[in-house]
Amino acid sequence: MSLEERLVPPQTKAHASVARVPEAWYVVAEAKALGKKPIPVTLLGVPMVLFRTHSGRPGALLDRCPHRNVPLSAGRVEGEHLVCGYHGWEFDPDGQCRGIPGLVSTAESERGRRAIAWPAVESDGWIWVWASNDVPPSGPPFRFPELPGYAEARRTVLAPGTMHATLENALDVPHTAFLHGGLFRTAKKRNQVTAVVRRYHDRAECEYLGEPRPSGLIGRLLSPSGGIVEHWDRFFMPSIAQVEYKIGTETHFVVTSACTPVSDFETRLFALVQFRTRMPGVLLKPLLEPFARTIFAQDQKMLGLQTETIRRFGGEQFESTELDLLGPQIWRLLRDAERRTVVEPSADGAPFYEKQIELLA
Ligand code: FES
Ligand SMILES: [Fe+2]
Repeated sequence: MSLEERLVPPQTKAHASVARVPEAWYVVAEAKALGKKPIPVTLLGVPMVLFRTHSGRPGALLDRCPHRNVPLSAGRVEGEHLVCGYHGWEFDPDGQCRGIPGLVSTAESERGRRAIAWPAVESDGWIWVWASNDVPPSGPPFRFPELPGYAEARRTVLAPGTMHATLENALDVPHTAFLHGGLFRTAKKRNQVTAVVRRYHDRAECEYLGEPRPSGLIGRLLSPSGGIVEHWDRFFMPSIAQVEYKIGTETHFVVTSACTPVSDFETRLFALVQFRTRMPGVLLKPLLEPFARTIFAQDQKMLGLQTETIRRFGGEQFESTELDLLGPQIWRLLRDAERRTVVEPSADGAPFYEKQIELLA
């Protein structure tokens, strides 16, 4: 063995948990961020322009004018069309070219004048794009919970990790006592709880039983008197992570995050936090804000380090234990979808996989 071979760590097989699932709706922007001006977004590595016609209909086109390849996001909206900023070609949300200023003859074929388009809709305060333009949408987008009377906050952050790593991070309990030590859980004061993991044809979930109120600052702030905790972590194909906490009868928290693959190693998190506590939302919101920011920043940093390391070693080599409750289930569902393996729901609604484990949380 040469000296070099002895010094260089063994190269991992060139594998990364990247699953590209185009036949799905993804959140690409907060609805209120899409006004009169078109905005550029990237979905699965594809640059798109997002715009809203005067009647309110959203459109998503390839961000490249078919005429001379200027980004359409540098154009403007007029009526029901997006108008390119260079020569003024006009496109409707289906990509159809509806006007060319100054053109009198119509002898040439109009086929090449189309802009590539993706289905786009507004739902639950988000703009969603169906990432495939050859397979039509199989149904409407995932619905965010409707919780009347709850306080709400929305937040968008860019995570430097794969969609899988970001989803796993959002639903991973064991890291909270370390990375976010003291905020949520504390490493020293742990309690034995039971977790039940289930995987269905289109989702996976983890239910925690016997969990006492989290001992960290946030737990004490939310529910000073303690109480029985109901805690669920859920994943919905292909991009939604949801954490639900109920503490006693007064405190209820649901954080739903759409984790959109901007590119293979960049994921944008569009999160909706909904909560009801004894303390009015207007008072609690500013108190929680710095915690949320710290937690997101810590996760962001760790995902960045993970991505960097995987790149440096030319691939990943993950060694999981039972504590990695949802990551492997999420990967299984994503990989099946990427390979277009059709998984039908089970006839009796029973999960395909169910496992109960004991852990210290
Ligand atoms: S480049 Fe868009 S109209 Fe000419
Ligand atoms: Fe985290």
